[in-house]
Amino acid sequence: MIRYGGLAVLISALVIVVLLPFATSFVESWSRRDVDLRSQLVFNAARAQIEDAWARGDAAALEALFGRIATDARIAAIGLCEDGALTLATGGMPAGFGCDAAPADGAAGPRPVALDGETALVTAHLLSAPGEGDARLVLLHDLAFIEERAGETRMALVLALVGVGFGGAALASALSIIVLSRWRHSVRQAIEDVREGRSEDDTPSDTQIGEEIKSALGELELARRQIDTVHTIWNPDTLQVALANELPGSEVIVVSNREPYIHNRKEDGTIQVQRPASGLVSALEPVTRACGGTWIAHGSGSADREAVDEHDRVGVPPSKPSYTLRRLWLSDEEQDGYYYGFANEGLWPLCHIAFVRPIFRESDWRFYRSVNERFAEAVVAEAKRPDPIVLIQDYHLALAPRMIRDRLPSATIITFWHIPWPNSETFGICPWREEIVDGMLGSSILGFHTQFHCNNFLDTVDRFMESRIDRESDSISLAGHETFVRPYPISIDWPPAALEGQAPVPETRVTVRERLGLAPDIKLGVGIERFDYTKGILDRMRGVDALLDAFPEWKGRFCFAQVAAPTRAKLASYRNLQAEAEELAAEINARHGADGWEPIKLLARHHEPDEVFELFRASDLCIVSSLHDGMNLVAKEFVASRDDEQGVLVLSAFAGASRELSEALIVNPYDAYEMGRVIHRALTMDAAEQRERMKVMREQVEARNVYRWAGQMLLDAARLRKKERIMRLIEAKERRSGRPNERRRKPAA
Ligand code: F6P
Repeated sequence: MIRYGGLAVLISALVIVVLLPFATSFVESWSRRDVDLRSQLVFNAARAQIEDAWARGDAAALEALFGRIATDARIAAIGLCEDGALTLATGGMPAGFGCDAAPADGAAGPRPVALDGETALVTAHLLSAPGEGDARLVLLHDLAFIEERAGETRMALVLALVGVGFGGAALASALSIIVLSRWRHSVRQAIEDVREGRSEDDTPSDTQIGEEIKSALGELELARRQIDTVHTIWNPDTLQVALANELPGSEVIVVSNREPYIHNRKEDGTIQVQRPASGLVSALEPVTRACGGTWIAHGSGSADREAVDEHDRVGVPPSKPSYTLRRLWLSDEEQDGYYYGFANEGLWPLCHIAFVRPIFRESDWRFYRSVNERFAEAVVAEAKRPDPIVLIQDYHLALAPRMIRDRLPSATIITFWHIPWPNSETFGICPWREEIVDGMLGSSILGFHTQFHCNNFLDTVDRFMESRIDRESDSISLAGHETFVRPYPISIDWPPAALEGQAPVPETRVTVRERLGLAPDIKLGVGIERFDYTKGILDRMRGVDALLDAFPEWKGRFCFAQVAAPTRAKLASYRNLQAEAEELAAEINARHGADGWEPIKLLARHHEPDEVFELFRASDLCIVSSLHDGMNLVAKEFVASRDDEQGVLVLSAFAGASRELSEALIVNPYDAYEMGRVIHRALTMDAAEQRERMKVMREQVEARNVYRWAGQMLLDAARLRKKERIMRLIEAKERRSGRPNERRRKPAA
């Protein structure tokens, strides 16, 4: 600023120095022309009278005329030269003036003469002489006015240039202040807005915005890389910091069908708070605890209504509330159509390759749609800002993203699909396939466990929707809205809360064996899940059967405990499975059992997380034999429970977890013979190999825990918000300038 002002003053001074001599000489020559003109005018005006008086020889008349002319302030003296001699002159004529100083001809212009040490200008005009003699009227001009005029001009010039200099300096300073402050403001504003996702009308230039996009995205990419590399251990604190840094002030709303805490009235009349046997809940609950916010879910417990306030809200976890559970009530009819019907008889078997035929009913579909509407309305009711981050969970709520998008266009909607996504041909049998996909494409980000499921989804969209798919960025544009499809392998809390208070492994081995009525030295295998036909419960029993057939030496020395929590028991397919499992276990036990020993123990009841961990820690191996599963967190929970680095994981190749836990013994659950051999391999694996494998798997689960899962989605959401914010700014600017950038326009679907 000072620099600009000083420069302007310096330039002005230089201009003054250069221009002053020119200005002076210009004024002088202009004044001489003025003198000449004036002299001519005076002469022309008085000529006739002068010539007349002179012809008459009337000296008195001439003197009077001269006297009148000399009253002009600029005429110092006037005289008459006859034949080179001054014959008549007014009083102001210097004594030393001689007619030879006068120009010979009046047309010759004024001539400067030095008189008595001073310079004067002399003009002369020929009189028409009656005789042959030479007579000239001589005018002596006062030069003071020229000096005065030159001085005034110089002064005016100096003042003008000084004024211009200072004015220019002031203007330059003012302009630079304005430009600088607007630039600073716009940069600060853009950064703030990008960070906080605020909306605003004042737009920086395209260049600045381009730079902003680059630096904002660069910053975020860097942050993500740093968080991934530096903070190899993700935990609630890392997640909170990532949220506070990248999404400051944002509101998080989780939406799922299953609630994280269920209040049930027991037979003795007391209320018990239960944690449901749900992979979704075990993953998301610690994350929500870390992020805070609101979790909207179906209130399914028998005492749920008693626990909430007048807005159907209750603070959870009950021991130390850190977020709000907002319960949504569903009628039996709604549950039958939406949950049991469309979600679990239609979409569940459709997405899992478990060879159970999906059932689609028009009435179920109507309930599915209307219940999704109710969840969407609940999100709008709970949202305190127009742009919350909404985390929608699972196949129960496929339509909700679009419904929320319609009501809260600025929301960042992350939908996570917890089950597999089948290939497009399989998905194509769903009568409402377009509606389902369209609903999901209301999301900003759509997450699956594996890249394979992402690819299946992209292929499905390609096959059934009029949209633009960008395979490089894995994004889908539909009706001007872009959805990013990404793999986020879900995981578990680390260190797991259920590990707290666990007895040492040797002690647990004894306790559990006693409880199960097993000999102290018996080898124990466990399987723990819900009674679901996708879990391969029957198949692993057949594997145990095959083991005992192929390796009878394990009879009396090995027992497989299958914990299975009854689930969706309203559905025939689930009831049948439980009956079938009980039948198969009884049949195998009858065939191989002897002397009070039975190879299979079926424990068909819900186990709380600490009981599950106790069983894991007491076992020698764990079988996770899903026929098809998005992730199957049981595998990760088993690994997490084994801080003694012992135990073998037998894992299905068709569970998402097998992509990450490659140190497990990977099996094909459809091949009972192979399963039997692998169980034998597990039972005979030495402690050192068990340690090697378990160590690697534990490091994997620790580093890729559920905070990382959530953190990556939230960081991607933050990046998206910045990008969307910048795009909005550019579009607003283009709208104002009336020059929409056609190249950036997305083709309409
Ligand atoms: O993967 C689907 C899923 O939602 C899991 O997260 C969870 O373990 C299971 O289904 C629970 O199902 P529900 O809520 O019907 O008991």
